[in-house]
Amino acid sequence: MQITLTKPDDWHIHLREGETLNRTVYDAARQFNRVMVMPNLVNPITSVDKAIAYKKQILATLDKLIEQHPEEAQNLAHFTPLMTLYLTHDLAPSELELAKASGIIHGIKLYPMGATTLSDKGISDIKKLAPIFGRMQELGLVLQLHGEVTHPDVDIFDKEKVFIETELAYLTQTFPHLKIVLEHITTEEAVAFVLNAPKHIGATITAHHLLINRNDMFHKGIRPHHYCLPIAKRKHHQEKLLWAATSGNPKFFLGTDSAPHAQHKKENACGCAGIYSANDALAYYAMAFDKVGKLSLLPDFATRFGAQFYGLPVSETPLVALLKQTNLIPESLPLTQQDEVVPFMAGQTLTWCTQ
Ligand code: NCD
Ligand code: ZN
Repeated sequence: MQITLTKPDDWHIHLREGETLNRTVYDAARQFNRVMVMPNLVNPITSVDKAIAYKKQILATLDKLIEQHPEEAQNLAHFTPLMTLYLTHDLAPSELELAKASGIIHGIKLYPMGATTLSDKGISDIKKLAPIFGRMQELGLVLQLHGEVTHPDVDIFDKEKVFIETELAYLTQTFPHLKIVLEHITTEEAVAFVLNAPKHIGATITAHHLLINRNDMFHKGIRPHHYCLPIAKRKHHQEKLLWAATSGNPKFFLGTDSAPHAQHKKENACGCAGIYSANDALAYYAMAFDKVGKLSLLPDFATRFGAQFYGLPVSETPLVALLKQTNLIPESLPLTQQDEVVPFMAGQTLTWCTQ
C-alpha cells in the first residue's frame, strides 16, 4: 500500500544552531516543504535582525547539504524555513512592525518563563504585554503559545488545562481578533477549547502525542526519550488528540515539536525535555492515522490546514510517497561530531516509511 501527498509543512520545529543544523536541516528538508522554526536558542531570537542571521545560517547549511547529497538536491532545494520571534518583556512594539514588514517572520512565540527548555527569558506576567498583543492583533501577527502555567503548586499533568482556563481565557477575551496557535496540545481540554473558539484560533499536534501516553514513559522502567513538554497525558487525552488530528477540522494541523538533545543530556539524573522525531516524522504520523483507519485525512492535516491558517499558499510540489512497509528506527543518529541523538521510538519497527 502506498499514499502520496504534496510535500507537507511542519508548523513547529526546533532546528537548534551551529553544527547540529547538519542533522536537523537534513532530516527536516527531506520530508518538509516549509518548517516553522522555533526561536528558543541559547541566545534567543528576540529581534528581526537575529532572525535574518539565523535564517542565513540555516540556508547556508542547506546549501552544504545539497552539495553533499547531489542525488537528493532537487528535493532538498525546496526547503524554506519560516522564522519566529521569541517574545520577552523587552520586545518593543516597533519590532512588531519590522517583523510584519520583513516577510520572513511568521509568528511570535510566547514561552511562560521557566515552562520548558530555554524559556528562562520568557514571560513572567502575560498581562504586562497587553500593548504588544493589541498591536499584534492590529497587524494580524500570529501568537504561538507554549500553553502551560509555571506555578510550582500546579501539578505537571494539569499545567496545560490551567493555562487554558486562566491565561488563554484572558487572551481570547481581551484580544478577540488575535490570531493564536496553541502549540503541541496534549489534553481533551485543549481540543475542546480550540473547537469552540473562532477560526483564527488553531493548534498544532505532534506525532509523539498521538503515539504515546504517560504510561509509555514508565513502561518497564523510566523512558527519558519519551519525556517532553507538555508531558504526555492519560490515554483518553491521547485518544482525543487522535480524534482531533483525524477529524478533518482545519484548526488542527501538523507540528512535530521535534526537539533534539544529545543522548547524554536525556539519559541523565536531570534529563532534558524534548523528543527528536524529524528523522522520520511523516512515518510516525502515518502510523498514528493508520491506527484509526484515517490515513486519507493525513494529506490535509499535513499539507493544507496549516498553510491556510497562516494565510500562505498551500504547498504544490513535489510529492512525497509513504509506503506501508517495515521501517526500523535506528538506536541513535549522529547529532554533532561528539554527540548522538536518540530518535523517537528508537529500536522499534514502524509500519510506514517515506520513500
Ligand atoms: C522543546 C526544546 O527542547 O526546545 N522541548 C520540549 O520538550 N518540547 C521546547 C518546547 O517546545 O517546549
Ligand atoms: Zn517546541
